[in-house]
Amino acid sequence: MNSVVVITGGTGLIGRALTDLLVEANYRVRILTRFPERYRDAGGVEYYGWDWTRRRIDERVFDGATALVHLAGANIGARRWTEGYKAQIAGSRILSLAFLRDFMEQNGVAVGHFIGASAIGYYGCVTDDRPRSETDPPGTDFLARLTVRWEETSQSMQGVARRVSILRTGVVLDARQGALPRMIRPLRWGLTSPVGSGRQWLDWIHIADMARMYFHVLEQGLTGTFNAVAPHPVTYRLFVQTAAGLLHRPCCLPPVPGALLRLLTGPSACLALEGVPVESAKIQSEGFSFRYPQLADALRDLLGD
Ligand SMILES: NC(=O)c1ccc[n+]([C@@H]2O[C@H](COP(=O)([O-])OP(=O)(O)OC[C@H]3O[C@@H](n4cnc5c(N)ncnc54)[C@H](OP(=O)(O)O)[C@@H]3O)[C@@H](O)[C@H]2O)c1
Repeated sequence: MNSVVVITGGTGLIGRALTDLLVEANYRVRILTRFPERYRDAGGVEYYGWDWTRRRIDERVFDGATALVHLAGANIGARRWTEGYKAQIAGSRILSLAFLRDFMEQNGVAVGHFIGASAIGYYGCVTDDRPRSETDPPGTDFLARLTVRWEETSQSMQGVARRVSILRTGVVLDARQGALPRMIRPLRWGLTSPVGSGRQWLDWIHIADMARMYFHVLEQGLTGTFNAVAPHPVTYRLFVQTAAGLLHRPCCLPPVPGALLRLLTGPSACLALEGVPVESAKIQSEGFSFRYPQLADALRDLLGD
């Protein structure tokens, strides 16, 4: 029988790209979604319902499952971080996973491999030029503290999974979803302004490499925590220069003041205004090679130039 991979939040950006790779490699994929009625099973992919807030799950999802990938989570950059939304951001990642762990323990379910998403927000909402590797300590702000708890919960899956791995993910670049379309829109209109100092680092990764990295970790049975970012991060200013060049727009207009962005969006502005360079050496030392190590090649592919 083919290996069966359960993916929470498999309907999202990373989940869909990973599902395509898995199906191509003859895995069977079961997607845990809050809205199973919206999808139709097809071509090796099946949809199962869950509602972690009510501690409900379609129990059949784990029949014969060999791996579990946890991608579910309310979007971090989509809305203002009110106290209510912060609770959703945390609960949808941490309490949802704790629910799955409890369910598996209580029902004697175990898988060979658990892979959990995490984020480079772990390193904190700060800007400096010191490269961060997986052994660096976490930051102290909301996102860093959330990420620490998220990773601790992932580690607690060791009771129900033989191998546990965590992918500490940077900004995933995709042509249609996620951060890139939002970042590119003003540039298309000729508004080629960096935000804030422009010296903050942008740790990006092409969606194809992101999906390939999950696949690599699964196929090679890797355990531990890995930064999931391309090997050449750029400053925000260089990102704008590179993208503007590809879009044939002159660069650069004066920066958008960080204070203005903070006023408009609140504390989540730190996602755009701060950043440290994050290293990818560890995953490369485990045999992973990037298809898009350089930003210009990634953007050329995604922006179609
Ligand atoms: N994309 C990035 O740039 C990036 C960067 C760093 C970390 N990550 C992390 O990687 C993971 C996957 O990212 P992604 O970009 O694929 O995310 P995404 O496109 O936003 O999809 C996440 C999925 O999570 C489910 N979800 C949303 N709100 C939920 C809630 N309140 N409770 C339970 N499930 C919920 C949704 O599935 P259903 O609606 O079908 O239930 C959604 O399709 C996330 O945890 C994200 O934080 C992503």
